[in-house]
Amino acid sequence: MTNSINNEFVSHASALDRAQAGVADLARSRNDRWYPRFHIASDGGWINSPNGFCFFRGRWHVFYQLNPFDTQWGTMHCGHVSSEDLVTWRREPIALAPSLEADRDGIYSGSAVVGDDGRLWLFYTGHRWANGVDPSGGNFEVQCAAVSDDGVHFEKIGMVIDNVDGFNHFRDPKVWKQDGLWYMVFGMSTKNRRGQVLLYVSEDMLIWHFHSILYRHPNPGVFMLESLDFFPLRDKEGNEHWVLSFSALGERPNGFANRNPHTASYVIGSWAPGEEFAPRTEFRMWDWGHNFYAPQTVRADDGRTLQYGWMSPFTPARPNQGDGWCGQLSIPREISLDSYGCIRINPARELTRLRTDTIDFGAVHLDANETTTVMADCDAVEIEMEIDINESTAEFGGLKVHSTKDNAHSSVFYDAQTHRILIDRHANARGDRGYRAAPFTSNTLKLRVFVDRASIEVFINDGEQAMSSYSFPSEGPRAIELSAESGTLEIPTLRVHHLSPIGL
Ligand code: FRU
Repeated sequence: MTNSINNEFVSHASALDRAQAGVADLARSRNDRWYPRFHIASDGGWINSPNGFCFFRGRWHVFYQLNPFDTQWGTMHCGHVSSEDLVTWRREPIALAPSLEADRDGIYSGSAVVGDDGRLWLFYTGHRWANGVDPSGGNFEVQCAAVSDDGVHFEKIGMVIDNVDGFNHFRDPKVWKQDGLWYMVFGMSTKNRRGQVLLYVSEDMLIWHFHSILYRHPNPGVFMLESLDFFPLRDKEGNEHWVLSFSALGERPNGFANRNPHTASYVIGSWAPGEEFAPRTEFRMWDWGHNFYAPQTVRADDGRTLQYGWMSPFTPARPNQGDGWCGQLSIPREISLDSYGCIRINPARELTRLRTDTIDFGAVHLDANETTTVMADCDAVEIEMEIDINESTAEFGGLKVHSTKDNAHSSVFYDAQTHRILIDRHANARGDRGYRAAPFTSNTLKLRVFVDRASIEVFINDGEQAMSSYSFPSEGPRAIELSAESGTLEIPTLRVHHLSPIGL
């Protein structure tokens, strides 16, 4: 079985050539009206989850799920970009294409590590349809590996962990080394449809042994935990905490939480090799926006934990699908623990280097029900602003972005009645609508808002919460406005930075 599963049904080189041509075809006729200026996206085709985020031989590498032939999810490949500084990126050749029996129907998510041999190892899930034809019979998934000397061209090793019990969902390995051993976690769905995390261990990265069930999701509705991540964070006293991050299938909406079809969340707890993971918190969402999923972290040499997520367009409409591309990653984030033991999520500090010029508006006062234009047209900006909640009487107010002549816009508003920050897309003319509402605790409000051609990301109070949503503006100039409803708004500081493109 092991031999045949690692047999090639097509040569990897020719599968990669075909995929590269597929992306080029779509890229040739791409419409750029919503194509991102400072987010990672494919030249053409569909992308989802970030994979294999790592630093190798002086460059950052980000891989991602890619369908090179269409702007919808389909036969997944592994796309690739790299960067020296996390700011300016370079496209690399597609790293992996289905070519083995083990990955015949898709190269699914995984992670990258620098091996004991100094080469870059990509662990991924080899995906096949169980009936050999289509999704109707479920999945058959195994864990696979590929290696590279230069970080660009990969040689497949093939399957390293079989799915002997034929579990339907069995995927998304995250690998790390600790105390001389290699560890791998991935998600699975038991025969009675419960989401679990498995821990495997290896001495040589090739032969892996089942170690334990690291985590069982307590909610019986959650039938799969995808896009696993498991990493330590140190608090201010230097104590180590472990963060188990997963994207849950089957979570139900609960008030303001879990509004998206699937939710990326985490639990903080303690763990050491040989021990069970002991959660100490409830589940927390990584992001309160409409579109954030499948995040993955890496530990930088300077000790920071960096994260990319996928801005997941789960809910139609996706108007960019007619433009030759669909899907972008979030901006890179820094993940840390604050003095209360809570996770802080901030834009990676490197992003300030994207700023080209800054317009400082100073303090701004808005009368009740006033709307004022801040900038008449812009497609890639970062807005830094404070709202003095104690001095404002507005029940609803803040920014309108992607504001066009047809009155379409997206709002990034403070809602005094719920004491939440909203991304509200009810006035969008294109794409999915709806609003999302993030909580925050303090009485001050400090926002960093990143607006690209089709997206908005909001970071609240130095990383207390984050929100990521698509927003597809209408034709014509895209203004930024300030608006106050049913009361006044006091904005002590307002700065807008133009951002330069990231080179993709
Ligand atoms: C979500 C996910 C993964 C899978 C991949 C398939 O991140 O469904 O579980 O490996 O995307 O594209």
